[in-house]
Amino acid sequence: MAEKFYITTPIYYVNARPHIGHAYTTIVCDAIARRQRMLGSDTFFLTGTDEHGQKVERSASEAGITPQQLTDRIAGEFRGLWDRMNISYDDFIRTTEERHKLGVQEMFRRIRDRGYIYKGSYSGQYCVFDELYVDAAGPGAPCPECGRPTETVSEENYFFKLSAFEDKLLELYTGQPGFIRPDTRRNEVMAFVRSGLRDLSISRTTIQWGIPVPDDPRHVIYVWLDALSNYCTAMGFGSPDKQDQQKFAHYWPADVHMIGKEIVRFHCVYWPAFLMAAGLPLPRSIIAHGWLLFEESKMSKSRGNIVRAETVIDVLGNDALRYFLLREVVFGQDGSFSFDALVQRYNSDLANDLGNLASRTLTMIARYFRGEMPYPSPGGSRTAADDAIARAAEQTIASFASLWDDYQFSRALEAVWSLVGAVNKYIVDNEPWAVAEKEDEGSRSRLATILYTTAEALRIATALAHPAIPESTARIWEQLGLSAISEFGLTDLKWGQLQHGTKLGKVEPVFPRADKSAIERMQQMEQQRTTAQAVQATPAQTPAQAGQPATQAAAGPAPAVPAPAASADGRISIDDFAKVEMCVGLVRVAEKVKGADKLLRLEVDIGTEVRQVVAGIAEAYAPESLVGRKVVLVVNLQPRKLRGLESNGMIVAASVGEKGSPVLVGFLEDVPVGARLK
Ligand code: ME8
Ligand code: MG
Repeated sequence: MAEKFYITTPIYYVNARPHIGHAYTTIVCDAIARRQRMLGSDTFFLTGTDEHGQKVERSASEAGITPQQLTDRIAGEFRGLWDRMNISYDDFIRTTEERHKLGVQEMFRRIRDRGYIYKGSYSGQYCVFDELYVDAAGPGAPCPECGRPTETVSEENYFFKLSAFEDKLLELYTGQPGFIRPDTRRNEVMAFVRSGLRDLSISRTTIQWGIPVPDDPRHVIYVWLDALSNYCTAMGFGSPDKQDQQKFAHYWPADVHMIGKEIVRFHCVYWPAFLMAAGLPLPRSIIAHGWLLFEESKMSKSRGNIVRAETVIDVLGNDALRYFLLREVVFGQDGSFSFDALVQRYNSDLANDLGNLASRTLTMIARYFRGEMPYPSPGGSRTAADDAIARAAEQTIASFASLWDDYQFSRALEAVWSLVGAVNKYIVDNEPWAVAEKEDEGSRSRLATILYTTAEALRIATALAHPAIPESTARIWEQLGLSAISEFGLTDLKWGQLQHGTKLGKVEPVFPRADKSAIERMQQMEQQRTTAQAVQATPAQTPAQAGQPATQAAAGPAPAVPAPAASADGRISIDDFAKVEMCVGLVRVAEKVKGADKLLRLEVDIGTEVRQVVAGIAEAYAPESLVGRKVVLVVNLQPRKLRGLESNGMIVAASVGEKGSPVLVGFLEDVPVGARLK
């Protein structure tokens, strides 16, 4: 019977729309799953969305909708995007589904029944962004993971005896070295566990958006215990149904949990400890890849430096994005995304190398052999060059397998492209078009050999590249007159399988060249997205305002308000003051303005809209420290342009010391976004 292979992506939070960071993990898993299917494994590929917890609850309340509305909308976007991208997932789990809830409660019950859960009281800091209990001193202290201000949680909780698993975890990491990959991550995890594990709070009473603790519904289960369990619940864990139970027994444990490096601790420490406590088998491996960077920092919604997968696939197609991410990023390390590099890779490797090989080979077979695959005659027309290509192809099959299975996708693809390069050179050296001019028997047979050799190498390169670029390789395969590439058995792949006489399909180009306008179009699409969010509902500017010079008043925090008509003694009436509208906003995005030391560009959510504001506070505040922070914004100022950026509002701050350093206004109590100041 075929061996089973079960692979998962993280389930993505629904507090933000998908971007190509999420697409990256999903594409990598899809490519692995596709190759496994071609190798004949009984493959199961799971993805989904993480829908509970404080972060989602809060995002919903800030958007003025219910958590269920938010999760339905964003889960739909993730799933819709994966469908457009042809992601071959076998199931999409949502943590708000009933099947998941049952499974999580069963997980909790098992851990409790085996004595690893007790009641206690927790008082300490919590980072909502990471959904993580952290060691940090006092209210507002920064999270050691992400630097955002933490919140104090003080409540009665259920605790998990994580401390009981220190030795067992260390044994696991040493006894099963492939459990965490790559080694750098494994070393970090081992150091973390060696430094000592404390018991973990696994329930909350102060939030509602979660799965109730069995027999004690005042508590909801900690979102990471809830989320991690998806890998089991999607496979039928906790279901009363016999078939579900069999499915779980068959596919669990997972072969690969693919994750980004920022969630290693949850997957490599908490998850195996939960499973050990529940008496369940452990996953075979957890593979942590690096981050996709854009403009030098991690692409993330909170930084606002995201690129959507839609932008790339609309302009260049699914395979362009997949090829770029698998080929350009050294798997395991951080990798930069840029439109220039994307288009360059697309043109050089796909349009030129593979695209040319396919179109030359197929066009010549169509022209010289009426579209029927020729066969090298056994006679004397073979040369050392032909044999060299056959050998190179056989070697590529072997080296591709060992590189790919070692998660070196970039080098595996490089091996295929070096074969493609060798065949393109072979074509140039052997000049089939010149051989075709000659009418003698020997030349005819030579031409057959050359074109068979190129077509067979093309077939092998195409089969190997299929998991990485499924759509275009399926088209090349059809043009070669072959059918159902995804069902082709890769274990049998070898030189010489191409049948003489095979009729070619309709020959047409697969990778149209991209020109400069492709980059511009993608940049424009991204810009439209940001401005659509930032300047919605802003009054149109007059030309005079647009041309106004930048003044400290507009950019900086002080003076906070424009001077209304004042009486002789300098006082203003209450009506004058009432003209100034101020409200509480949440900083979503903060970044330096290029070429301006003092300015930050902020995107501030004021409940009804997101405002772009340019503020002169860069010398006092690092952009990262502002994201997630609440500020007071004067909202009815006329817009101004600063360094070409429209500023829609002014952040209120005190001006302190001789230099007038800004100190942002804040509140001691928690205030909702959009609250007005009166
Ligand atoms: O952490 N580069 O969800 P999340 C590479 N719900 N990968 C990136 C990326 C980037 N810039 N940005 C995101 C969560 N990712 C939890 C997971 S699992 C039981 C619960 C990918 O929406 C990467 O895989 O923050 C990362 O780990 C994941 O998205 C985080 O998604
Ligand atoms: Mg995240």
